Amino acid sequence: MRYFIETYGCQMNKAESSALETICAERAWQLTEDFETANLIIINTCSVRITAENRAWARISHFAAMKKKRHFTLVVTGCMAERLKHEMREKQPAIDYVLGNFQKQAFGLILDASEAGKNSVVIEESPVFEFAKSHWESGSFRAFVPIMHGCDNFCSYCIVPYVRGREISRSPGAVMEELAALSARGVKEVTLLGQNVNSYSYGTGLQRKTFPDLLEHIAAHIQRGGIERIRFVTSHPKDLSEETLRVLAANPVFARHIHLCVQHGSNAVLHAMNRNYTVESYIALVELVRKYLPDASLSTDILMGFPGETEADVEATLALMKAVRFAYAFMYHFNPREGTPAAAMDNQVPSALKLARLARVIALQKEIGSALMQSFLGREMLVLVESLSRKNEAEILARTDQDMMVVCPGPATLIGSFVKVKLLSLRGNTFRGIIVA
Ligand code: SF4
Ligand code: F3S
Repeated sequence: MRYFIETYGCQMNKAESSALETICAERAWQLTEDFETANLIIINTCSVRITAENRAWARISHFAAMKKKRHFTLVVTGCMAERLKHEMREKQPAIDYVLGNFQKQAFGLILDASEAGKNSVVIEESPVFEFAKSHWESGSFRAFVPIMHGCDNFCSYCIVPYVRGREISRSPGAVMEELAALSARGVKEVTLLGQNVNSYSYGTGLQRKTFPDLLEHIAAHIQRGGIERIRFVTSHPKDLSEETLRVLAANPVFARHIHLCVQHGSNAVLHAMNRNYTVESYIALVELVRKYLPDASLSTDILMGFPGETEADVEATLALMKAVRFAYAFMYHFNPREGTPAAAMDNQVPSALKLARLARVIALQKEIGSALMQSFLGREMLVLVESLSRKNEAEILARTDQDMMVVCPGPATLIGSFVKVKLLSLRGNTFRGIIVA
């Protein structure tokens, strides 16, 4: 039996698609890139913006039309499935299963039913959230390991707390077990995943383990010659503690890069967003990061055009960007998300203004990012070789600790290993270099 899977949204969704693939592999189902021949099609959806949902609906309609010509099982899962669980099949009856975020563990039942030629099987909500095991593909040297799930923050523009539920943390034992298994399979770089990794909290009382406890435990038990670089996403500025920075500084296995979503540079907008920090506390945190990790790069998310945003708020954001100097930023404009408080705010910013403000932020970041990267030229850095360069097969593409990309001459045999490169020049957002060791 063959399956086809399409994934939208964040790393968490990608990790969960991988887990669905593991369930398929356990039942000897084969992945196909050709949906025309698949016995089962899975669309793992995202709800973060209405555009993401529209794209998923377009794909669902496409596959629904295909069902008129041949039989296969159509499964929709992920955050949109969670949000619209009860309406999706009414709107599109060709969908066989709508699998919410808390039902994914039951996916095997659908495979079994599909194999038996049955059209439906009842899928229960799981009473406790079960963390998906990371899927590992033969030859792969990077993996994502979920350590916590859900979000308690309720930023006023965000759908995640509604579709992913409250924060739940995975036991340190289960995390370590998975890291050991990945390490044994040759994985070199792992990204610890969670909507809000800094609020990791497992157990109670004296037994409680926090995020820095988990990091320290990982650093102490990681096998030499196995996993050599560990990243994590996503960090909320209100929860990144000095203790975490101390642990990171003491353990070079943690990559010198922190993605610290600021979202905006105006206190009034941060307050309206319900972010629970101020520009001043964010800058103080950045200073603390630089004190403990002078070599670390910082990246961020910036959301422009939030309801009520004034010209002065835009200027404040530009000023914050100049003060912090992010290596890179994911910049986007506010899109009202149905079901969140911000969508109901009556002081929405007109679309053209949102776009114009976003363009200013993007232009400034381009300048800052490029100047920052220029300052790295001439340095030697340890990089993990990820693939061959897309443009030239005699060149490799590698990633620095600071999450910057480097292209340099080198053979495919280096893929998956760490090498030292000297950064010689810059083209766009990518360094060009040579291998020195
Ligand atoms: Fe959404 Fe805010 Fe939670 Fe991030 S911290 S997932 S933006 S509610
Ligand atoms: Fe999208 Fe859900 Fe991730 S809304 S961004 S797939 S948490």
